[in-house]
Amino acid sequence: MAEKTVYYIEGDGIGPEVWKAGRPALDAAVSKAYGTEKKLNWVELLAGEKGFAETGEHLPKATMDALAGAELAMKGPLNTPVGKGFRSLNVTMRQVFDLYACIRPIKYFKGIESPVKRPDLVDMTVFRENTEDVYAGIEYQSGSPEAKKLIEFLVDELGAKIDMTAGVGIKPITPAGSKRLVKKALDFAIEHNKPSVTLVHKGNIMKTTEGGFRAWGYELADEDYKGQVVREGEEGEGVIIKDRIADAMFQNVLMYPEQYSVLATTNLNGDYISDALAAQVGGLGLAPGVNMGDTLAFFEPTHGTAPTIAGKDMANPGSLILSGAMMLEHIGWHEAAALIHASVEKALAAKKVTVDLAVQIPGSTQIGCQEFGDILLSQL
Ligand code: NAI
Repeated sequence: MAEKTVYYIEGDGIGPEVWKAGRPALDAAVSKAYGTEKKLNWVELLAGEKGFAETGEHLPKATMDALAGAELAMKGPLNTPVGKGFRSLNVTMRQVFDLYACIRPIKYFKGIESPVKRPDLVDMTVFRENTEDVYAGIEYQSGSPEAKKLIEFLVDELGAKIDMTAGVGIKPITPAGSKRLVKKALDFAIEHNKPSVTLVHKGNIMKTTEGGFRAWGYELADEDYKGQVVREGEEGEGVIIKDRIADAMFQNVLMYPEQYSVLATTNLNGDYISDALAAQVGGLGLAPGVNMGDTLAFFEPTHGTAPTIAGKDMANPGSLILSGAMMLEHIGWHEAAALIHASVEKALAAKKVTVDLAVQIPGSTQIGCQEFGDILLSQL
């Protein structure tokens, strides 16, 4: 029997509810697809409020030690206090385990109301760089001694023109950081027979950083993917690699979504475009995601802890379940993943859905988190 260990963190707020409603569907899909041949072996790790209650730490050492040797993990959402208290646990884990690629598949589910005419033409996977860019956290407040010192250096030594009162931030983007992200996107496109990879950048203005991302992406394709990848407009076989300037890309995904498949983006552009694309197909309610490094793939729903509905059996477990399906795809258990997708489609067609979807599906009946999970399970 093939067994895969999945470390999981329940999460805060609606986390425990969505796990309780959603996990049985993942196990059922595996057992329906493979009988007793394959199995997920779930091992709980403590973090967040539950971690603090049981160990006095929000991110206990035992959790970090287990994740350090892990291949697969899944988590519910974790609270991050705004402006005070501890650092974001999510960011800490991303940094410690170097989860450099944030991957979000965006696909339309029939029946959901969307702000665009043809949401069904959207079938994209965004690979967003997760560690560099303006998120590197190198920022200095307007008027601070650090900002003044940096501005003085830039003006005096490098001849830059900057007002002394400016707040300043640094946007580092490296060849290695760009290439490892684009590599993930190209490998995914090749493995899943996707037609194209588009490098999204703002290189016309930020030539050394965003323009670098574009150049290093093409360089990688030319050097390491000969015969497998071909540049747009050139003769040859394989996955097409092209690039678009970010502002044009925002128009293009609305007007010609069928022309785009896998997107590779810098950190900030990826942040914007993954949420915009999610809105195009009806919102974040069913959006799964993963943060991935070279060893660990950490799957998670894209929503937060939804404190106002926590404990009220109102949350939608769909995003968690689809994150699980994404994990099954990742380990090559495609049949089980396909069963989950089919059961979500059937559940939506039956129009018995949680409150967030009920407002988006005309003529639907509102049900609770657990009942929605039970319906998915029964569809399996
Ligand atoms: P949120 O995603 O928790 O909530 C935004 C809105 O969507 C709320 O109206 C909420 O009720 C609704 N919602 C979210 N998930 C839902 C679900 N599964 N079913 C039905 N409705 C749902 O975002 P917000 O309010 O900005 O953040 C709340 C907390 O969650 C914060 O502490 C934040 O830091 C944390 N958070 C954690 C994330 C993670 O662990 N990856 C991601 C986003 C936020």
